[in-house]
Amino acid sequence: MSTVALVPAAGRGERLGFGMPKAFVPVRGTALLAHAVRGLLDAGCVRHVVVAAPPADLAATTALLKAAGLPAMVVAGGADRTASVGLALRHALQVIPDTRVVLVHDAARAFTPTSVIQAVVAAVEAGARAVIPVLPMADTVKQVDAEGTVLTTPDRACLRVVQTPQGFDAATLAEAYALADSATDDAGLVEKLGIAVTTVPGHPYAMKVTTPFDLAIAEAVLAAQEG
Ligand code: C5P
Repeated sequence: MSTVALVPAAGRGERLGFGMPKAFVPVRGTALLAHAVRGLLDAGCVRHVVVAAPPADLAATTALLKAAGLPAMVVAGGADRTASVGLALRHALQVIPDTRVVLVHDAARAFTPTSVIQAVVAAVEAGARAVIPVLPMADTVKQVDAEGTVLTTPDRACLRVVQTPQGFDAATLAEAYALADSATDDAGLVEKLGIAVTTVPGHPYAMKVTTPFDLAIAEAVLAAQEG
């Protein structure tokens, strides 16, 4: 029985302003994608990695991973994140028929500690059908209307910030993707099936690198991790 990690890395990453796909943006000299794939393999519980790359950059992505000594399969991504994950999932289930646990991990969360990856896999192996790493909210959150006028203030104690990797029993994720629906995270699709999603503690280092500010934080995180 295999644990397979799918890495959607096909976004354009324009908010970073580097003029290249976000997955290729270097942090301390190594592409975000290589950091993310290395983290998954270093966790020791992931047997295969399938990366969804920008279709125009398939060869470059394969070369980047090979140069970093990282064994991973590369498939062409789709028009949005959900499509990219769907394509990677289809490939994984075709070529790795004994897939039991599937992780979905954003390339942009390249510095997720191995302890978080291990906790997600362990929870699925223990019987959970869907598991997500979460953090408590530090900020108060408001729901606003189209004009920006506040409608309500949800109770912060009930809210969580969601990270990746999100972990699933393979059959559950396949069922969720058969819905042909869309969501901003994979657990959102599983919720639409009425299946319970459980949580494990996330980590601040599993932040998503989206803006130049995040990139500066990532440089500092990596410096701390490398000692
Ligand atoms: O745009 P955002 O930061 O939310 O994207 C989250 C992840 O989904 C990123 O790792 C990005 O590369 C990936 N993605 C993808 N295919 C797309 C769009 C985004 O794999 N078409």
